[in-house]
Amino acid sequence: MEMIFGPRPGPVPGDELPDHYPWPERGPEADRQPWVRAMMVGTLDGAAAGDDGLSGSISSDVDRDVFAAVRRFADAVLVGGGTLSAEGYGPLRATDADAAARRERGQAAAPVLAVVSGSLTLPLDPDGFTASARRPLVFTTASPDADRLAALRERCEVVQSDGDHVDVRWVVDQLRARGLWRIVCEGGPGLLGQAADAGLVDEVDQTISPMLVGTEQTPDAPMLSSAREFELAHVLTAESFLMCRYVRAGAEPGAEGRA
Ligand SMILES: NC(=O)c1ccc[n+]([C@@H]2O[C@H](COP(=O)([O-])OP(=O)(O)OC[C@H]3O[C@@H](n4cnc5c(N)ncnc54)[C@H](OP(=O)(O)O)[C@@H]3O)[C@@H](O)[C@H]2O)c1
Repeated sequence: MEMIFGPRPGPVPGDELPDHYPWPERGPEADRQPWVRAMMVGTLDGAAAGDDGLSGSISSDVDRDVFAAVRRFADAVLVGGGTLSAEGYGPLRATDADAAARRERGQAAAPVLAVVSGSLTLPLDPDGFTASARRPLVFTTASPDADRLAALRERCEVVQSDGDHVDVRWVVDQLRARGLWRIVCEGGPGLLGQAADAGLVDEVDQTISPMLVGTEQTPDAPMLSSAREFELAHVLTAESFLMCRYVRAGAEPGAEGRA
């Protein structure tokens, strides 16, 4: 992989990749504002999924390496129920080396998987997301289906809003209240649109996949109430993929902080 735009142009050895996705420095715990990264892959014609309806078919090993680097020191990985089910999320764990590196930095050994779902129609197979290193968080409404709620409560921490809507701002507040402020939102487009519209997205890590596939399998997402602007922080490339890191225009100094 090579950096073709950014602070350190040139070859990027695999073990240095996470250094290029720094989280901002934060002060005392009470002042730790969340930093929300949106991580997505898209094709040249704007598709978020290939003909199988999944992102894997438009991704590649180099994109997956960046995906892992972006997550590596996250506190929480946030996904919509649609993505969790469609993409068949397995357990979220950290390798022994990553767990040790995280502990050294004062972080928990692995990130928490956080899911937003109204219907709670989430896959509950024993080898699935509920087998994550840390008990997953599921954010839902005040009155979801009682049986699904009971089944999920056995496996996850379920957090209910006080109405029939789950506001992504409330979700991020709940994460922050648990000390989980380094947040990677892995989509899908529906949840990311809500986060962007709420002004919550600080960083966009967008992989451009060198393919044309058509957008029939890509869900429609509503227009945002206003455009959100970002500045290009770096571009990495390998195998004709571009891995672009954008940071919110006007983000506070320190966004480029430690890796
Ligand atoms: N290219 C990429 O990087 C990428 C990344 C992720 C996903 N994808 C693809 O995108 C597609 C899924 O997109 P999507 O936009 O449908 O995904 P999504 O945002 O993960 O899922 C939407 C669903 O999640 C739940 N949800 C989201 N926000 C909610 C809220 N505020 N309150 C309650 N429930 C909420 C709802 O389902 P329930 O109520 O039924 O849970 C909703 O129907 C799949 O094809 C996936 O493969 C691509």
